[in-house]
Amino acid sequence: MATYEPKNILITGAAGFIASHVANRLIRSYPHYKFLIYGKTGWIGGLLGKICEKQGIPYEYGKGRLQERSQLLQDIRNVKPTHVFNAAGVTGRPNVDWCETHKQDTIRTNVVGTLNLADVCREQGLLMINYATGCIFEYNAEHPEGSGIGFKEEDTPNFVGSFYSKTKAMVEELLKDYDNVCTLRVRMPISSDLSNPRNFITKIARYDKVVNIPNSMTILDELLPISVEMAKRDCRGIWNFTNPGVVSHNEILEMYKEYINPDFKWTNFTLEEQAKVIVAPRSNNEMDASKLKSEFPELLSIKESLIRNVFEPNRKVSTN
Ligand SMILES: NC(=O)c1ccc[n+]([C@@H]2O[C@H](COP(=O)([O-])OP(=O)(O)OC[C@H]3O[C@@H](n4cnc5c(N)ncnc54)[C@H](OP(=O)(O)O)[C@@H]3O)[C@@H](O)[C@H]2O)c1
Repeated sequence: MATYEPKNILITGAAGFIASHVANRLIRSYPHYKFLIYGKTGWIGGLLGKICEKQGIPYEYGKGRLQERSQLLQDIRNVKPTHVFNAAGVTGRPNVDWCETHKQDTIRTNVVGTLNLADVCREQGLLMINYATGCIFEYNAEHPEGSGIGFKEEDTPNFVGSFYSKTKAMVEELLKDYDNVCTLRVRMPISSDLSNPRNFITKIARYDKVVNIPNSMTILDELLPISVEMAKRDCRGIWNFTNPGVVSHNEILEMYKEYINPDFKWTNFTLEEQAKVIVAPRSNNEMDASKLKSEFPELLSIKESLIRNVFEPNRKVSTN
């Protein structure tokens, strides 16, 4: 039964004892999903489509702009989704500093657009899985660097140093009042595609100089399929969407050297020196992933996941 993907099944005599059991079994085994995904041209949205294809889940990308309510309603009418995934957002190019000089564009998508989609989904009785950010926290006296005390889901954001983070923190607060939303706090995403310039590993391997701070991070190869499962399980509310534990820039670059390029060298600089080459400050934090881990006990720690999902599949340095 697991390998057969039926389109339509006609059961005769479904009111009878055996046929009614067959019908119930089929409904449980082949629930009808149809995902509507926003963010077709984006990194996370693109990966989500591939996951749906791999899992045989019917999906379509939304054509509407998030801020245009009528276009979102049109998408929902056309696609008739069971779930909506919002991987659309303004992230800035070449980086989030762009948002400092494009504040209204950032608000239009990240605030007006995200709230609009959540509101439309609520009106239509749809769960919205929202790829949000954990870059709304920074280490503080109650959560010091290296302490192992991470920020929890119920903690109030304490980092609004960049305009991007400010908009994300404000929206997260407002989305708390939408019971149809599952907010996933993604951080410093990493994927097994080391050629992608958005990949945190690729970014830091290309920088002239890097800071060295432990952070919570999200291994997309492991966590995006989990977000699909969360939709199926009807998970709602806020979730720290990171692998448990932290990893520092230098620890990642040591792995890069060990698995990819033994000649790789890098130079560190301090946060004060970094501040001179960026416009807005960046968030550094540890997030408490215990809520996600209790829902998904198989979740790997950040260092295990980095090795299993990213460095081993990309290994260039032989073990002999
Ligand atoms: N990458 C990261 O470092 C990171 C970290 C934490 C959280 N996140 C969050 O995860 C989400 C997805 O990130 P990503 O890295 O996949 O972003 P991305 O590669 O920059 O893609 C963003 C997507 O959003 C779409 N979009 C932007 N404005 C839109 C609007 N008004 N209406 C409809 N679509 C719109 C873009 O489409 P067009 O090209 O057509 O505009 C694009 O498909 C974002 O909300 C981001 O804040 C990302």
